[in-house]
Amino acid sequence: MIRPDELAPTAGWRYWLRAASAATLVVWSAGSRLVGGLVVISLAAGLIMPATAWLQRDVLDSLAQPGGPERHAGLGDHGLLLLVLGLGIAGVAATVLPQIQQYAQSVQRQAVAVALYDRAYRAVESWPGVARFESPVFADKLQLTGQLAQGSAGSLVNSVLGVCQALLTTVALVVTLVLISPLLALVTLAVQLLAVAASMANARRQAQLQVDTGHRVRRQQSYGSLLRSDVAAKEVRIFGLGGFLRGRMLAELRFVNDAERALNRRIMRAESLAGALSAAVIAFGLLWTVARVADGRLPVGDVSLFVMAAQGMQGAMYQIASALGTVIQSVVLFGAYTDVVSAPPDLPIADPPVAVPPLRRGVTVQDVWFRYDESHPWVLRGVSLFIPAGTRLGLVGLNGSGKTTLVKLLCRMYDPQRGTIQWDGVDIRELDPSALRCRIAAVFQDYMSYDLTAAENIGVGDLDAIGDTDAIRRAAMLAGADRYIARLPEGYDTLLSRVFSSRTSRNSTTAGVMVSGGQKQRIALARAFMRGGRDLLIADEPMSSLDAEAEHAINSKLADAQDGSTCVLISHRLASVRAADNIAVMSDGTVVEEGTHDELMCAGGLYARLFSLQAAGYGDTGSAGPGEPAATSVKATR
Ligand SMILES: Nc1ncnc2c1ncn2[C@@H]1O[C@H](COP(=O)(O)OP(=O)(O)OP(=O)(O)O)[C@@H](O)[C@H]1O
Ligand SMILES: [Mg+2]
Repeated sequence: MIRPDELAPTAGWRYWLRAASAATLVVWSAGSRLVGGLVVISLAAGLIMPATAWLQRDVLDSLAQPGGPERHAGLGDHGLLLLVLGLGIAGVAATVLPQIQQYAQSVQRQAVAVALYDRAYRAVESWPGVARFESPVFADKLQLTGQLAQGSAGSLVNSVLGVCQALLTTVALVVTLVLISPLLALVTLAVQLLAVAASMANARRQAQLQVDTGHRVRRQQSYGSLLRSDVAAKEVRIFGLGGFLRGRMLAELRFVNDAERALNRRIMRAESLAGALSAAVIAFGLLWTVARVADGRLPVGDVSLFVMAAQGMQGAMYQIASALGTVIQSVVLFGAYTDVVSAPPDLPIADPPVAVPPLRRGVTVQDVWFRYDESHPWVLRGVSLFIPAGTRLGLVGLNGSGKTTLVKLLCRMYDPQRGTIQWDGVDIRELDPSALRCRIAAVFQDYMSYDLTAAENIGVGDLDAIGDTDAIRRAAMLAGADRYIARLPEGYDTLLSRVFSSRTSRNSTTAGVMVSGGQKQRIALARAFMRGGRDLLIADEPMSSLDAEAEHAINSKLADAQDGSTCVLISHRLASVRAADNIAVMSDGTVVEEGTHDELMCAGGLYARLFSLQAAGYGDTGSAGPGEPAATSVKATR
């Protein structure tokens, strides 16, 4: 098993290179024509400022020439007219281009966010196992990927172009300053470069802070979502957890804020110093230029040219610094994204995989050892079982004995560290996991209820038949959910959620319904039954929330639902597994007893003890005689 935290390290030039190429790929795939358009607009925008500075200087010089005002009276001079016209066009372009640029940037931002989410979630979906979903490292990286998609990724192209645009402006303005004084140009440029270097270092620190506090942000969001959750609302109220959770949430937020504030103070000091230095250099340069103009060694227009060029350069350098900051931040976060999209499958996939034939002989579990992590104790310790095709295995045992873990391994959500699980004699590691799962239907102990309609909640059990209302109704009938669903306000089209509302017409919406615990479980069962005809049906505590009548009905219909397939039924209600062809009793990660109900009762072991305890409970209440439990029974106790 590949450990979830074996993801790429987050430092070094390779990391940066990988992240930068991933960023380029995503941005390009999101729309190459858009990138081209943005490049052209940015280049044009980058040249407006220097062009304006030159035109302005020429106008002033032209007016300051001896006899200038008289010569240009009424703007009869074509040269001056053209200069003024040029200034006007530059002014219009300076106001219109940013609007176009902003619109194109917003379109591009959206396209990049879609591309990012698409690629990241495709990658997540492609992992065959579930171990990565239990990895905090992976959760942090996904969190950062989300932040990237919603934030800096979309601004990446803009920022890179912003840097290019500002560089273009800077080069033109430096040339301008060199014409006034090479030394002045050099000093002004050096001070501005210093400011940019400081900003870049700060941007890197900011990005690193985002990475370092990612887990804190996740915790803060987790507490926040508990405070908003419809599921948690009852416990939050009955135990008065609101203040406690809010306190925890704010503590995380304050921690992140404190770290951010400390960094921002540092940034404020560095940037103020750089700004003051740059302003001082410009003031000195202005003094120098004015003195030269007064001496008559420079034309008067050079004062305006210097002011515009120096301030323009300051602005351009500020733009470079902030755009580079976004680039750096994006690239750091793209590193997390790259780890997500380029992580190898969390379970090895055979190449080429063996085709998964219909189950003929059965499933063999052979000396399987498993633990969730190397630092954890063994959960399964040499489990061996044979489940003949077409039979029903009842799997029982105390809490934590490893039953759910075993069925997760049967579905290949994890691989055992030792031993094998075979499908008709072929190790399931040789099979394509998705092809294997096509042959399995399951209702897990922690089954899902989706914020979808009743029909969709069942239909997602077999996406190919999600529109087949007859199939959905049949599955609902088998699970005893049909009558209840038919009585819902909109029948099968009723939304099973109170956190969304369904749109019934253009202007009206109706609230969804909240299903009861047992109804939710029946719908989860129906979802598994949608996959009728699958080879292996796994049901992990499928009746834990059902009423006695429903449990009895489902027990009697299970054979229909099983429809000749092989079934593994886990239940603490031992009456439910009584009719199984074989019952395996698990304790502390091993199978300690195996046999039919009668054989196990005769053996007088753990099963017999648990069964008698439940039966005695019913004896006490008078609902069933000893050894004759009714269809419902109490849960096994330790
Ligand atoms: N995802 C997981 N990561 C780490 N440990 C786990 C995980 N899932 C289960 N465990 C541990 O594995 C052990 C077996 O759990 P499992 O869910 O298989 O028991 P079970 O027999 O199904 O219990 P129950 O009857 O309560 O459903 C438990 O000690 C549990 O804490
Ligand atoms: Mg379990």
